Amino acid sequence: MVLLNPGDEVLLPAPYWVSYSAISILAEATYKEIPSSIDTDFKITPTQLEAAITPKTKMIFFNSPNNPSGTVYTESEYRALAKVLEKHPNIYILSDEIYEHINYGEPTFSFAAIESMYDRTITVNGVAKAFAMTGWRIGYMGGPEWIAKACTKMQGQITSGANCIAQRATITALGAPVSKIQFMVDEFYKRRDLVLDMIKNIEGFKANVPKGAFYVFPDVSYYFGKTIQGTPINNASDFSMLLLEKANVATVTGDAFGAPDCIRISYAASVENLNEAFKRIRDLLNS
Ligand SMILES: Cc1ncc(COP(=O)(O)O)c(C=O)c1O
Repeated sequence: MVLLNPGDEVLLPAPYWVSYSAISILAEATYKEIPSSIDTDFKITPTQLEAAITPKTKMIFFNSPNNPSGTVYTESEYRALAKVLEKHPNIYILSDEIYEHINYGEPTFSFAAIESMYDRTITVNGVAKAFAMTGWRIGYMGGPEWIAKACTKMQGQITSGANCIAQRATITALGAPVSKIQFMVDEFYKRRDLVLDMIKNIEGFKANVPKGAFYVFPDVSYYFGKTIQGTPINNASDFSMLLLEKANVATVTGDAFGAPDCIRISYAASVENLNEAFKRIRDLLNS
């Protein structure tokens, strides 16, 4: 709302967290998806980025580790995208790094760590993921001071401020050594492998290996055009509804994330529930 005006365009590398498109519309901008697929580990290329930019482009929303794909961009991939953005000085980068600590490989990188991007990157983060403090409702941003000040003006009229108890808890969380949450990351890592193993045994599911966050985003397009227990499956939304209605398993259709061949499975659930969910999915599809 601070940076976007009617007519401005926002670029959304897809798949993207569902709220980015809605947030863009609320700010009276339009958005354009840059598609990716399982074949590129759900990453966009510099060439795609260059091709998507128009004189109206004002912002790109970037999210790594990614919800819903679990994809993590490497430093060199960030730098290659930054090279394109360097040629377009009017574009701001909104870098959502809320899953920064939930990664299974190299440490995650940041757009703002690239000198040429520093003055036009707004980094957003929150305590909901790494610290499992979802209900505390604290998010924060880092960016150029003039943008931060404008955000304060805007936000003061919307949420009136975050409660002080949650702010104190956030100071403790952010001040603690990251090693304190390693046990959670280790647990997510085990669950990721468990889920990937179970996916392998399901006919027609094709998944990449997520490097962060806590989602797997399998391509289920194998089922499109088929009928399962009397229900025709034409897209990922039909498939997701089928799992919900016939197996009582909740997934999210890839449509919501701009990737209509996939469904999102969250493994921020107990091993017991994950095993049960996959048993039900297998039973349904085998029938
Ligand atoms: C990529 C991403 N950004 C931001 C959020 C917002 O998290 P919260 O509102 O809980 O801080 C989420 C939550 O799912 C997310 O996946």
